[in-house]
Amino acid sequence: MNNNEIAQKGQEYIMNTYARYSIAPVKGQGSYLWDADGKQYLDFVGGIAVCLLGHSHPELIQALNQQSQELWHVSNLYWIKPQVDLAEKLVQASGLAKVFFCNSGAEANEAGIKLARKYFYRQGQAQRHDIIVFKESFHGRTLATLTATGQSKYQEGFAPLPAGFKYAQFNQLDSVEALLDSQTCAVMVEPIQGEGGIKPAYPSFLEGLRKLCDREGILLIFDEVQSGMGRTGSLLAYQQYDIQPDIFTLAKGLGGGFPIGAMVANEKAAQGFAPGDHASTFGGNPLATAVANKVLDILGRGNFMQQVVENAGYLKQELEKILDPRIIEIRGRGFMLGIEFNCEIKELVDICRQQGLLLLGAGPKVLRLVPPLTVSTDEIDQATGTLQRALEAWN
Ligand SMILES: Cc1ncc(COP(=O)(O)O)c(C=O)c1O
Repeated sequence: MNNNEIAQKGQEYIMNTYARYSIAPVKGQGSYLWDADGKQYLDFVGGIAVCLLGHSHPELIQALNQQSQELWHVSNLYWIKPQVDLAEKLVQASGLAKVFFCNSGAEANEAGIKLARKYFYRQGQAQRHDIIVFKESFHGRTLATLTATGQSKYQEGFAPLPAGFKYAQFNQLDSVEALLDSQTCAVMVEPIQGEGGIKPAYPSFLEGLRKLCDREGILLIFDEVQSGMGRTGSLLAYQQYDIQPDIFTLAKGLGGGFPIGAMVANEKAAQGFAPGDHASTFGGNPLATAVANKVLDILGRGNFMQQVVENAGYLKQELEKILDPRIIEIRGRGFMLGIEFNCEIKELVDICRQQGLLLLGAGPKVLRLVPPLTVSTDEIDQATGTLQRALEAWN
């Protein structure tokens, strides 16, 4: 089947929730994708910051193949060896204490929200159920996480929304302070807002949040679903700040393309959950955790992260050489970069795609670049060259 045939069939049978481009990628290798018509693309979308090690990474294929021949699924009624190994690695790498596994970012955040509430319930403070979140944030599409998401376009038509969320201004500590009261149980924030336009938190903001939470005795939750797993140049984005959260969440890159999410908590917060409080049938499944173990092993190997920092620095430097009066700002960390324009970028994304480069937006005016961490400097040159030509063709 060619692109058109697949798209037509999709329109007939797939629920209409995505405005899809009419290409159907059928094969991936490293930083490249091929669609059903055989056209090749340099993939700087990576399944939206998911395909951390590129497509068809041989070691991930091997980990998945091996696990698939041993055990697919048994349920969390039993101990699952690769799940336990993965939890140990996440605990050792983060300095937190306990892990809950699930299948997506929204679920990981939902688990974090539930843990924060249950923690205070167990302390005899059931009235502490409110979570302070941020305008322009994005936390997922379940009812609770879309309510936590401070963008009304995601909430419209889904009322009644769950109660217990208050919206502060990102990077403005005063606005958080103004919302704190005896009902607040947690503050939840992305260290770098992703969907909201690739906006990094100021160090003083995150450090200030940590101090505020400590002062109030409430929990600090970092949503690292997009920023985690080496994407920003450190395993977790918060590791570039001098603080630790009580809870953080992961998904996207954790399985390098295999669906998995995780909610990680320190010893104190983890006391909130007891058997029966939360669960997920597929959470921490042997296949997903076998692959995620391999992803973490690769990230921790030799100078892998140092190379990520260097290559990401090179990408930013090359982007900064592009002079276009419509560019307002280039921002972000590591391989989580955004170029803000003074106009909508939909057409630019289309031109890039036609010229063989896949990019996406983060909001209407920010072009997002989230290539695999394994992208080479040659591929970076190819991407920036294509982007330059696309900008020239875009008027
Ligand atoms: C910061 C953040 N949190 C949560 C989510 C939701 O993740 P998922 O789509 O896996 O539910 C996303 C997805 O873009 C995200 O960027």
